Amino acid sequence: MPSLTIRNIDEALKRQLRLRAAHHGHSVEEEIRQMLRSMAAANPADGPSHSAGPTARSPSPAATSRSATATSPSSGKQVLLIIGGGIAAYKSLDLIRRLRERGFAVRCILTAAAQHFVTPFSVGALCGQRAFTDLFDPMSEFDVGHIRLARDSDIVIVAPATADLMAKMAHGLADDLASAVLLATDKPILLAPAMNRFMWEHRATRHNFAQLMADGVSVVGPNEGEMAESGEHGIGRMAEPLEIVAAMESAFARNAATGPLAGKRIIVTSGPTHEPIDPVRFIANRSSGKQGHAIAEAAAAAGADVILVSGPVHLPDPPGVKTTKIETAREMLTAVEAALPADAAIFAAAVGDWRTADTARQKIKKIAGGTPQLALVENPDVLASVARAKSKRPKLVVGFAAETEHVVENAQKKLASKGCDWIMANDVSSESGVMGGDQNAVHLVSHSGVESWPPQSKDEVARHLIARIAAALAGEK
Ligand SMILES: Cc1cc2nc3c(=O)[nH]c(=O)nc-3n(C[C@H](O)[C@H](O)[C@H](O)COP(=O)(O)O)c2cc1C
Repeated sequence: MPSLTIRNIDEALKRQLRLRAAHHGHSVEEEIRQMLRSMAAANPADGPSHSAGPTARSPSPAATSRSATATSPSSGKQVLLIIGGGIAAYKSLDLIRRLRERGFAVRCILTAAAQHFVTPFSVGALCGQRAFTDLFDPMSEFDVGHIRLARDSDIVIVAPATADLMAKMAHGLADDLASAVLLATDKPILLAPAMNRFMWEHRATRHNFAQLMADGVSVVGPNEGEMAESGEHGIGRMAEPLEIVAAMESAFARNAATGPLAGKRIIVTSGPTHEPIDPVRFIANRSSGKQGHAIAEAAAAAGADVILVSGPVHLPDPPGVKTTKIETAREMLTAVEAALPADAAIFAAAVGDWRTADTARQKIKKIAGGTPQLALVENPDVLASVARAKSKRPKLVVGFAAETEHVVENAQKKLASKGCDWIMANDVSSESGVMGGDQNAVHLVSHSGVESWPPQSKDEVARHLIARIAAALAGEK
């Protein structure tokens, strides 16, 4: 299918499309494509080229969720929702509604702080059963009890996951019902963090988050956008209820362990690196991380245990993926080495080749009539280090080559010089629109030849690459 560009869609429609796409667990572009396909299937006489447009006959999100209720494979599952004390708690009321529409039974625990934002009464009314609030509530202990609450569910969702709850979880504290249940559960946990951006970026929260990732907790969001505090913008908004539902469904899908990469561990790198010059300046590149993040998401959807090592990007963490965030090439190498061993490693990040020999401690001042001379030194080669590793080398090492000329020839040279198994070569010249765009045209360069794939979305490239990796790991050609 030719690529698709739709301009001038109003904000409300864009929002509906994003939510539908999040619910189905794929990109907006893919969502539109699937809507067009189903319209064409429903009206074969129209033919694909006569479609009236993506919105003309598409069902509303409400209609979609109603049909999902009837068909959802997750129906009958029990969700335990822990609501933390953040402003985003109001969105959890909608989350309960969305979960119940899809046939999930929902039990809720509210922390003491959460009860300042939403009441146990309204939560109970939406759940269809009373909400739980106290660890030392005789009714709870004899009725359900915190251990049963912890065990009698298929998944535990924490939304909003406050900085405080994340800190307690990371350190194993259990001084209230929510934290005791989180410590006692043997079920998968999905966090939807929400907090002020300074709380999110605080070193303590970073440590706690890294610990929770290492402990195998799944995360959705937080997203970038307007904060509750007027005029503030940044990362810290709770994921939308439908994004949380989509993340939960992919967590269930992964747990089903039926995908072609079930039982496999895959490392993916994504995004650019930032090499500091001084406290305010850095050397970077235009990589958006879209291709690497799409690969990580596709690998997780195929059942793999995925560790994504990402440079600074403006993308939400893919659901069901353990994401480690780094800034520099040296940090990326350390994070990748810490994630080994793995069955396959895919190096889609655009790692800076150089950094400054010294990082100035203070901002370099402008001096009249002079310019600073920056001495550069080479960064470690993350791809070559792993591909040539004496121990713990993944069975399959895949590099990316971002080239602006002689794309295939340069990729063949890179394949030989780095010691990897495949190179995914793409043209990143400004005319190609690949850097930051949603489309990609890649060549798979291996020791047995060159395959040129047709232009397609980065999501499709990701799915095709993951299918090829699954086949290669299974011993197929
Ligand atoms: C108006 C208001 C809004 C708050 N919003 C958040 C928030 O979004 N995220 C967060 O982590 N903490 C937030 N807090 C702080 C938490 O409520 C506080 O840390 C509390 O102890 C969290 O308790 P819990 O983790 O048991 O729910 C907010 C506090 C107030 C007063």
